[in-house]
Amino acid sequence: MRGPEAARIFAAPMSQPNEIPLMEKIVSLCKRRGFIFQSSEIYGGINGFWDYGPLGAELRKNIRDCWWNDMVRRRDDIVGLESSIIMHPKVWEASGHVAGFNDPMVDCKVSKQRFRADQLFFAPIVVDEKIVSYVSALESEKTAEELQEKAETFKRKKAIQGKLAAVQPRDFTEAREDEIPLIPSPATGEPGSLTPPRAFNMMLQTYVGALRDDSAVAYLRPETAQGMFADFKAILDTGRVKIPFGIAQVGKSFRNEITPRNFIFRSREFEQMEMEYFISDEEDWAKWHRYWIDWCREWLISAGIPAAQLSEYNHPKEKLSHYSKGTTDLMFAFPFGVQELWGIAARGNFDLLQHAKFSGVPLEYFDDANKRRYVPHVIEPAVGVDRIMLAILCSAYCEDELADEKGKMETRVVLRFAPRIAPIKVAVFPLLKNKPELVEKAKAVRELLRPHMNSFYDDAGGIGRRYRRQDEIGTPFCVTIDFETLGEKGPELKDTVTLRYRDDARQERVKIGDLVGILLPQVQ
Ligand code: GAP
Repeated sequence: MRGPEAARIFAAPMSQPNEIPLMEKIVSLCKRRGFIFQSSEIYGGINGFWDYGPLGAELRKNIRDCWWNDMVRRRDDIVGLESSIIMHPKVWEASGHVAGFNDPMVDCKVSKQRFRADQLFFAPIVVDEKIVSYVSALESEKTAEELQEKAETFKRKKAIQGKLAAVQPRDFTEAREDEIPLIPSPATGEPGSLTPPRAFNMMLQTYVGALRDDSAVAYLRPETAQGMFADFKAILDTGRVKIPFGIAQVGKSFRNEITPRNFIFRSREFEQMEMEYFISDEEDWAKWHRYWIDWCREWLISAGIPAAQLSEYNHPKEKLSHYSKGTTDLMFAFPFGVQELWGIAARGNFDLLQHAKFSGVPLEYFDDANKRRYVPHVIEPAVGVDRIMLAILCSAYCEDELADEKGKMETRVVLRFAPRIAPIKVAVFPLLKNKPELVEKAKAVRELLRPHMNSFYDDAGGIGRRYRRQDEIGTPFCVTIDFETLGEKGPELKDTVTLRYRDDARQERVKIGDLVGILLPQVQ
């Protein structure tokens, strides 16, 4: 859910002084190793759009596949859907997006920059209980500290005597009319250039067909959810579902975000995994709401996100949309602050009623047992693939100390992905690349594993370096073919290999014939 996240950003974890901030390290690793690239980088990039390289594409596929298997295939009560990205424009009138999918925007008339009003913070500078000026800063992990420093600098430069009060940050949506001309623009540092906030609709518009007039306007969907409501009747008519049941979908969504930021956290093109769970209008919605919050939390933990980095945020009743009975966000402690990861909303029967009204087609369920017709209510867990990917990258990133081949301790970077999420499950190495027997055997082992899991063959450089390269991209297992494998150190070791575990660098000898049986249960 958009909106009142700002108050919580001040609880952000902070990096140590002189240390490269964690986010910078993650962004650099993602680019270097082929997880994430800026879209159209050779043309200077385009803000809010990202490309996923070879490892990023694998990681995302694993996230989607795990979610789809757990949400759809392993359950009897949920079916899948792939609806189109461009839908009838009336869908977005019915859903309320045309009229109300807005973010508050502020312009700086001097710099021509635009800001989201709820991400622009300001505070009065109060000396001896009197307001002497204002300071402003854009939302960051250190917004409060930045505002305090700016207030202190102002007081010192102007040689103002008296006691400076601690700043009380507010966001620009809360600025009074008389305060707006006094608040400095974060772009220029000078007051007087910021406009009052105004609504900015975030739907990306296009034209369908040969005409370029109002009749041809269409929208790239800002959420996948409306496909599930618009196809509700079609799915009911297939006869495959009985209440309670869900419709799940994974697909791209588009929002013309005013300020895309924090790497892939908030982009203009992103991918959602949403599920609409339809329940009886007489059912206890709070029970199902709780059920889905717990389900989502457990799913995140199974995807490798530590429980300690997750928390819940209940939207205050007065800030809920008029149709919502309750919304809870699962929050994740990102390096830039505790932020929404997964929203679980109890939406009542608002969406089905709206689509019935705008389309003229009744969207009801007939309860055969009780001979009763009604409009079902819905619980909606909605999450972004990109946001889960970022949370997984942030929680998996780790630097530890490990001895190299000569016993010297060195720092290694390791992504501790859950094996079922890791892009590459197992890497296979010949100990030496100039021994054809080792190379041939290693390639044969790789072919043995290939049908069962994503595997990788590497013979370049020392074995220690090869392990480190796999640690850095989160490969949970490495298999090395050595002279023991060839039977040169005794017949009892013939056709055994070294299996090395990423997290503790432990090594054990296992038979080639046992490899699939050992690895498969751990990576599925
Ligand atoms: N159908 C409800 C809905 O779309 P939302 O809270 O706006 O609700 C759901 O979005 C989830 O989609 C968010 O929790 C987040 O994980 C992801 N998401 C939303 N906007 C995003 C953006 N601009 N970039 C990346 N992910 C986004």
